[in-house]
Amino acid sequence: PVTLDSLAERTGRYYGSAVDNSELDDTAYADLLGTEFGSTTPGNGMKWYATEPQRGVFDFTAGDEIVAYAQAHKLKVRGHTLVWHSQLPGWLENGTWSARELRAILKKHITAEVRHYKGKVFAWDVANEIMNEDGTYRENIFYKTLGPGYIADALRWAHAADPGVKLYLNDYNVEGIGAKSDAYYTLIKQLKADGVPIDGFGMQAHLALQYGFPNDMKGNIQRFADLGLDVAITELDIRMILPSDAAKLAQQADWYGQVTKACLAVRRCVGITLWGYSDRHSWIPPVFEGQGAALPWDENLRRKPAYDAIAHALATA
Ligand code: G3I
Repeated sequence: PVTLDSLAERTGRYYGSAVDNSELDDTAYADLLGTEFGSTTPGNGMKWYATEPQRGVFDFTAGDEIVAYAQAHKLKVRGHTLVWHSQLPGWLENGTWSARELRAILKKHITAEVRHYKGKVFAWDVANEIMNEDGTYRENIFYKTLGPGYIADALRWAHAADPGVKLYLNDYNVEGIGAKSDAYYTLIKQLKADGVPIDGFGMQAHLALQYGFPNDMKGNIQRFADLGLDVAITELDIRMILPSDAAKLAQQADWYGQVTKACLAVRRCVGITLWGYSDRHSWIPPVFEGQGAALPWDENLRRKPAYDAIAHALATA
């Protein structure tokens, strides 16, 4: 059957969707995930709060469940995420740590998790959302205690634990050229010059119709590829102010097509992942009141115009 992933595969790329553990119980949803897509990302299951709920006590149950589902359906898995300011376990967030202690905690966490998933994930979002909108470093617990060197250290520790896995930095609002993506460009160029292992840059692509399409997305993907990196669209969704109507759905379809074409225009843009594929399960409505309808399938798992736009862009590449 023709699927988004089979169309993407013809271009040497994958097409994926994130999934949360609870969504695997929705069998219609899980079945379509398993047939339409070639890659998945755990929405929450590999985050720090889930994987090291107590200091030094690791629990890979949630991530393992998604890996098992993926293997049974021949999906590859993107690991998400090792270092992030959000969804940290209470013991870590509420503790007071010296630089020496926090460095040891970070190294142990990264090493244990990357070793556990060695050979099971093809890529890791090693550090997630480390920049502010103005291109300064986000003052998360790691930055405040360790300084910006924690990023290179995290990449080195991840590489030591699995030399074969692709290592990414990942963020939102970096799809277009601007202060935030410029900061990543400068950082990654420096990391490369310093011999730090980094393979890819992840553009989350949580877009919203009311804010306009990212500025020169194709050129932006290209400049990161020109640094010798893979680029991936990692968390794509395109929300709108509800209710949806035919005009908004048409604009959304156009944007999904544009994102697909921007990726396909750059050889090293390796794949696209939706942050969930249907409006039935989406992180958006509870977070952005009055917004949603962001995915290419509706609440009833019916294809929206966005699906056809993606399929058309892939098929005509
Ligand atoms: O696990 C609890 C459950 O016990 C409780 O009953 C329920 C009631 O609220 O909450 C559950 O936790 C929720 C968790 O997802 C697991 O479902 C949290 O409230 C909720 O805040 C959390 O949201 C996640 C969000 O990251 C947190 O920032 C979303 O599912 C997840 O899709 C989202 O993903 C992020 C990426 O990791 C990074 N980029 C942005 C993206 C969207 O925010």
